[in-house]
Amino acid sequence: MSQKQLDSVTKALSTYPGRDKAIRSLAFYLLLHAPGSVRQKELQALAKQLSGCRLVMRQFNHPSMIKACQMLLQTKKGDPIEYYAGAGVTIIYTVYGVAELIAWLADAGILALDAARWYRYCLYLWIGGMKILVTGAAGFIGSHTVLELVESGYDVFCIDNFVNAVADDQGRPVSLLRVAEITGKQIPFEKCDVCDINQLDEIFKKHKFDGLIHLAALKAVGESVAKPYDYYSNNLVASLNLIKMCQKYGVKNFIFSSSATVYGPPKELPITENSPTGQGITNPYGQTKYMMEQILIDVGKAEPDWNIVLLRYFNPVGAHKSGKIGEDPKGVPNNLMPFVSQVAIGKLPVLTIYGDKFDTPDGTGVRDYIHIVDLAKGHVKALDRIKAKGHIGTEIYNLGTGTGYSVKEMVAAMEKASGRKISTKIGVPRPGDVATVYCDPALAKEKLNWQAEFGLDDMCCDLWRWQTQNPNGFLEA
Ligand SMILES: NC(=O)c1ccc[n+]([C@@H]2O[C@H](COP(=O)([O-])OP(=O)(O)OC[C@H]3O[C@@H](n4cnc5c(N)ncnc54)[C@H](O)[C@@H]3O)[C@@H](O)[C@H]2O)c1
Repeated sequence: MSQKQLDSVTKALSTYPGRDKAIRSLAFYLLLHAPGSVRQKELQALAKQLSGCRLVMRQFNHPSMIKACQMLLQTKKGDPIEYYAGAGVTIIYTVYGVAELIAWLADAGILALDAARWYRYCLYLWIGGMKILVTGAAGFIGSHTVLELVESGYDVFCIDNFVNAVADDQGRPVSLLRVAEITGKQIPFEKCDVCDINQLDEIFKKHKFDGLIHLAALKAVGESVAKPYDYYSNNLVASLNLIKMCQKYGVKNFIFSSSATVYGPPKELPITENSPTGQGITNPYGQTKYMMEQILIDVGKAEPDWNIVLLRYFNPVGAHKSGKIGEDPKGVPNNLMPFVSQVAIGKLPVLTIYGDKFDTPDGTGVRDYIHIVDLAKGHVKALDRIKAKGHIGTEIYNLGTGTGYSVKEMVAAMEKASGRKISTKIGVPRPGDVATVYCDPALAKEKLNWQAEFGLDDMCCDLWRWQTQNPNGFLEA
């Protein structure tokens, strides 16, 4: 390999998300199968050069690789079980490495293949058997996240206590039955209140989880002001119970549903992950998210081998494109878009716009709305990152589009999607409402290789499809 080729390979690899595993696997393959060959020298040169672009030799020191290598090289005459275990790991690394390499070649345009398909295939190989507990799985974000996890090859186990989800007459979660219909795969579920530590213990004992996504929470901002005890108790106890179970059963990958509310009224725009948090939060719901973040950050310091990802969602809207799952608020919706779509379909008479004198182009509040499917995919990407890196410690990401839309723009987009006129009236601003909130999602793009794909029209068309196919939500579709 010439220096020029080496340079171009290095450049291409430095931007390829699966590069670490590709190089690691390739190196392992060559070390085992071509010791002392020219290829090995090339590889060492490549590895040396790549160490300049963060692809360092630690990739060659991955504990399971070293162990497998030792088993193979030292135990040939010894324990056959160890030998075959080592050989098994080698084969997995090698198969994965070859697949990764093909994906990389396709990605870099060297092979004419569909890189995305190959990359997914590699991930299937890599994550096979990774079992994720999803709490609050029957809810709006939970059901979409479970769908994306299953589509990406993760094993899931779902729990929910139905405090804000619909069960059929046999006690099964209707949203997850729909996910099973869409994916063609069974979705394992057990009714469980995450605040019930004994039931949780039984579940952790029965299943060997590799990680969890914790979505279960009460989430209505206004209700949290009226019922602070319920919110602090449910949201904090549930999360603390999960941390305790993770400690007891050695589960080290914890993804937490946080919220843009932790930022309080923004002092600067766009909001980055380094913007201040915890100041000016006006309601108990937001406080529970902020408190849980602080607790998890402390747990991350005390448990240095854990991976904790705090995902700060902005405003998820829309529905899965099948129209089979979506947001199904109980009673009058608290969030803008479910309200707007219920006005459009005639279930509610008029939308009150809380204030039109804000310092925004049309005077109404501007927020960062994100398609629910994009948000769901963010969770998959967080797990993919943990899987690819092995250890990341505690990381925080904004999940938003980085673009703000005003209430009036959202109403206009929904009128376009539905072909209906949406009645509005202007009310007074609610306490604590701010003019504009939108995030900088660059960190998630850089580290998670994630960015929102869907725009405003997709959000509204998909929401409208869900609304028209399920005018009364999951109960009477
Ligand atoms: N939807 C949003 O706009 C938004 C924004 C930021 C953060 N979040 C967070 O995302 C998560 C999911 O939100 P969502 O919009 O899907 O809400 P949701 O109400 O649709 O889903 C939450 C689910 O958790 C369940 N649940 C609540 N407490 C539970 C408990 N103790 N045990 C078991 N299940 C329990 C509910 O039954 C519900 O199905 C929540 O943590 C929420 O705070 C939501």
